[in-house]
Amino acid sequence: MSHTNDQIAGADCSRRGFMQAAAAGAGALLTAPVWAQDTKPPADDLHIAMIGPGSQGRNLLTKCLKIPGVRFVAICDVWPYHQRYAANILKKYDQPVTVYSDHREMLAQEKDLDAVIVATPDWVHAEHTVACLKAGKHVYCEKEMAHNLDACKQMVVTARETGKLLQIGHQRRSNPRYWHALKMIRKDKVLGQITHAYAQWNRAKRYDLGWPKDEVIETGTLEKLGYSSMDQFRNWRWYHKFSGGPMADLGSHQIDVFNWILDAKPKSVLASGGRDYYKDREWYDNVMAIYEYPVDGSTVRGFYQVLNTTSHGGYYETFMGDQGSMVISEDPRKGFVFRELDAKRRDWEDEAKTIETMGRDAIELKIGETLAPDGSRTPEAEKMLAESQKPVHQLHLENFFNAIRNGTPLSCPPEVAYETAVSVFAANEAVAQRLPADFKPEDFTV
Ligand SMILES: NC(=O)c1ccc[n+]([C@@H]2O[C@H](COP(=O)([O-])OP(=O)(O)OC[C@H]3O[C@@H](n4cnc5c(N)ncnc54)[C@H](O)[C@@H]3O)[C@@H](O)[C@H]2O)c1
Repeated sequence: MSHTNDQIAGADCSRRGFMQAAAAGAGALLTAPVWAQDTKPPADDLHIAMIGPGSQGRNLLTKCLKIPGVRFVAICDVWPYHQRYAANILKKYDQPVTVYSDHREMLAQEKDLDAVIVATPDWVHAEHTVACLKAGKHVYCEKEMAHNLDACKQMVVTARETGKLLQIGHQRRSNPRYWHALKMIRKDKVLGQITHAYAQWNRAKRYDLGWPKDEVIETGTLEKLGYSSMDQFRNWRWYHKFSGGPMADLGSHQIDVFNWILDAKPKSVLASGGRDYYKDREWYDNVMAIYEYPVDGSTVRGFYQVLNTTSHGGYYETFMGDQGSMVISEDPRKGFVFRELDAKRRDWEDEAKTIETMGRDAIELKIGETLAPDGSRTPEAEKMLAESQKPVHQLHLENFFNAIRNGTPLSCPPEVAYETAVSVFAANEAVAQRLPADFKPEDFTV
């Protein structure tokens, strides 16, 4: 589901218009994800399972525990250490589960499962997701959708053929702060004509992941699973076989935001990268890419970098236009609007918090303050504000569970995630070939 400018055309940017927009809810104006809609508690809990309760799996698991009407009945993991860890957490929350080592056995045994969360390494996402969909389960699968485009395609096709829901874990698409940013950009046009975008994910030097010495999986079992060592099993992100590298791991979230906010798919990407620091790893540890997007008859260039040796500046996305710029991030401390000095002043700027940054005033982008600046927040604005306090992954899971219950739209269906995967994998290819990669419109469809 992508949202076109037509859906939000004809916006009234006056204060009155802004308040009306607030009353309607930014989400309603933009065909919001389901966090903005009322849902009734189901008569019965949804029965769910997770394949791969590792680091991110446990993050999702604890977020599910905050969501009413959802109950774990099974978990599956090939590592007994992680099986025990997750099962113990769930037991504490009165959700005893059956534990499996093989997802096929789980699907054969667990007849009344409604949905499965897949949080395994990227290279087995397609295997696990396709099996679950074919068994009649709805699936929430983590990003990157899969480790290559053929696997991603299989997931899209199987979701279509089975008619089951498939949500991919680009959780920014269920984040009210991003929806608010989208409204300001598309409807209120606070940036004017967007000319450039920039995003980065800079993170500090990483240390290899280890494992307790008494929790080693024996070599024969590892080999059957496709890994040659515990290092491969734990540090799969750095190997070509298991992952699309940092562009897929981190870049996919942010290139997804480029595609979403610009409401466009790239026409080309130039990129440079290398293994310049972690020389014993297979994937590039740093990539710098320039995407070109066709937007309203012009070209918008989006520069993206992912670095694994410095946390300088952290992670955020920036959209720059002839009237202003906006910084938005999953990190709630980052959300600013800069107005060009000669650009139209907005009424609501009076109430918004103004901060000084690099010698220039910026308006802080805060859900609530900018939605209902006079302090008399509408119920809808209150609801958005409350929603924006929730952990980001919880919002995306809620969107998924609400889609199962109420048939409301998913924030990140497989077709959308496929477009992101096409955009991201091409940057890896451009690095390898040392040539720009051009896209054809049909590259983005399955
Ligand atoms: N959306 C986000 O913000 C976000 C953040 C972090 C990670 N992720 C994604 O979550 C996924 C997991 O990442 P992680 O960091 O938790 O990795 P991890 O290695 O900590 O966890 C993976 C889990 O899968 C298990 N596993 C491996 N192969 C399996 C198989 N064949 N069958 C069953 N279980 C298997 C492992 O034992 C482990 O418990 C990845 O796709 C990653 O990209 C998403």
